[in-house]
Amino acid sequence: MSNSGPIGFFDSGVGGTSIWKEVIKLLPGENTIYLADSKNAPYGEKPVEEIIALSKKNTEKLLEMGSKLIVVACNTATTNAIEFLRSNYPVPFIGIEPAIKPAALKTKSGIIGILATKGTLSSALFSRTSELYSANIKRIEVVGNGLVAKIEEGQHNTPEMEVLLRALLKPMLEVKIDYLVLGCSHYPYLLPVLKRIFPEDVTIIDSGEAVARQTQRVLEMNSLFNLSDKIPDHQLYTNVDPEVLKALIAADQNPYKVSYLLF
Ligand code: DGL
Repeated sequence: MSNSGPIGFFDSGVGGTSIWKEVIKLLPGENTIYLADSKNAPYGEKPVEEIIALSKKNTEKLLEMGSKLIVVACNTATTNAIEFLRSNYPVPFIGIEPAIKPAALKTKSGIIGILATKGTLSSALFSRTSELYSANIKRIEVVGNGLVAKIEEGQHNTPEMEVLLRALLKPMLEVKIDYLVLGCSHYPYLLPVLKRIFPEDVTIIDSGEAVARQTQRVLEMNSLFNLSDKIPDHQLYTNVDPEVLKALIAADQNPYKVSYLLF
């Protein structure tokens, strides 16, 4: 494991780039590799054993490519597989979980909404965290049925998406939630639509910045910062047609390389 090795990221698809963007913003000196396993998306409806097997496959590919640390840029993979990954591979892992804690601490109405996949909401790790931080408030949990598939098709900001979201989020709109936690790394791409649906006084939070700060802390603790003065390299790979991934990255007008890779 070398300091100039890349930080590896994986997700069931394009969504984890919302996390990747926060990490490269906070740590501009680091090399990165991102694997979008879009061929197998969505993970959120798969049994735990399959989520673990896919996480194992992605991790082994990232290690083969020299990753010094791995960000599991997927709530579903984190909540179902991170314990397995941490006990089977020799690099540090950073996971991503729905940001319930800040929402539970700040809510004034005492009602928060959580939008996540079935796999995340039904995981043992999610139950433990949500009980720990939000035992005394009301949580409205909604499974984002169909959202990941549409985002994977590049349909994140369309009238059809708005109709689907309004129907899914009805239980949250009927009560006075004041915080909405986005518990899936694909969902930050829904922000323009969500802001049209919810009143302005509903705060929408995701875990991107917290993951970036945790990545920085773990690199520091393990003396793993990249000390090389070469211009950092970012490589993004997908196992389907790269069009959607390219479009999400191009929105930032950065010249990142996006390639097809079989994995
Ligand atoms: N980005 C994944 C997550 O954070 C999406 C899950 C899925 O593929 O269903 O949960």
